[in-house]
Amino acid sequence: MMATSEQKPQEQKPLEFKIPNLEGVEKPIKNVVFRVSRFDPDKDSKPYYKDYEVPVYRFTTVLDGLMYIKYNLDPTLAVRYSCRMGVCGSCAMVVNGRERLACKTNVLSLNSSIVTVRPLNNLPLIRDIVTDLRPFLEKHRKVMPYIIRDDIEAHQDREFLQSPAELDEYMMLTDCIKCGLCYSACPTTATDELFLGPQALAQAYRYTIDSRDAGAKQRFEVVDSPHGVWRCHFAGACSAACPKGVDPAFAIQQLKKLILYRRGAMEKRKPAPESDKVREGISVEEVVKNIPKEWPSPPAPK
Ligand code: SF4
Ligand code: FES
Repeated sequence: MMATSEQKPQEQKPLEFKIPNLEGVEKPIKNVVFRVSRFDPDKDSKPYYKDYEVPVYRFTTVLDGLMYIKYNLDPTLAVRYSCRMGVCGSCAMVVNGRERLACKTNVLSLNSSIVTVRPLNNLPLIRDIVTDLRPFLEKHRKVMPYIIRDDIEAHQDREFLQSPAELDEYMMLTDCIKCGLCYSACPTTATDELFLGPQALAQAYRYTIDSRDAGAKQRFEVVDSPHGVWRCHFAGACSAACPKGVDPAFAIQQLKKLILYRRGAMEKRKPAPESDKVREGISVEEVVKNIPKEWPSPPAPK
């Protein structure tokens, strides 16, 4: 309906967050102390912890608890979140000493009367539990996380087809939501701020083994470097922290293997069958003999 000149424009209501009102439906199971890391760059010289008492129901998540604090106890608390369903990765933080998505973490499952919440490690702190993700995302950008091939222009009207088996090669790695939990958990990232980190390296591997991609050479120039793949000591903390079942530690070791094959003029596209042979007891020399000398180009789309 068109608004006439006499009609007043509708008043914009401020956004409000409501904790689901379970009064009369069920009672809080207990009160839990949320020990939250606070830091205001305009006032504080360093972060400190502040305690809040939060009523917890069966389904209360850590993010619900933080929202309860923000809207009922202390509106100055800064929290980053978006989807509230474990998909966007925005609510990544360290809860009771472990990297977790706050919206996916049930408070009761922590089995603790104190829930300690602090920002991700290895990233600059903006405020309270909100970190600056730009260094992390910049490293992701560096590894060229997209299909590279020089015939894209010539095939604008075609799809680049791929078989289910080829998709299977990297499918697990596509579940990455760029939450940064692995980056926070990684001990190498903690000691080398230039280290590309588990997420970026895993994505470098994901695109390199994609049968449609021909960008291995460019990507290896980035990852086969002093702060690249060789800095990973295979602690495995990244894979343990990942909330989506991605296994960056595995991908990084596979990436190392690809680079080694390439370095020794052993250019080959997919090491999987040969590596199976190595496991079965065939010598590396034997495997190397069968590796094609040329890195094959991906087939043109049909
Ligand atoms: S690999 Fe896992 S933990 Fe790391 S950014 Fe991706 S989803 Fe998050
Ligand atoms: S708010 Fe999106 S993953 Fe938690």
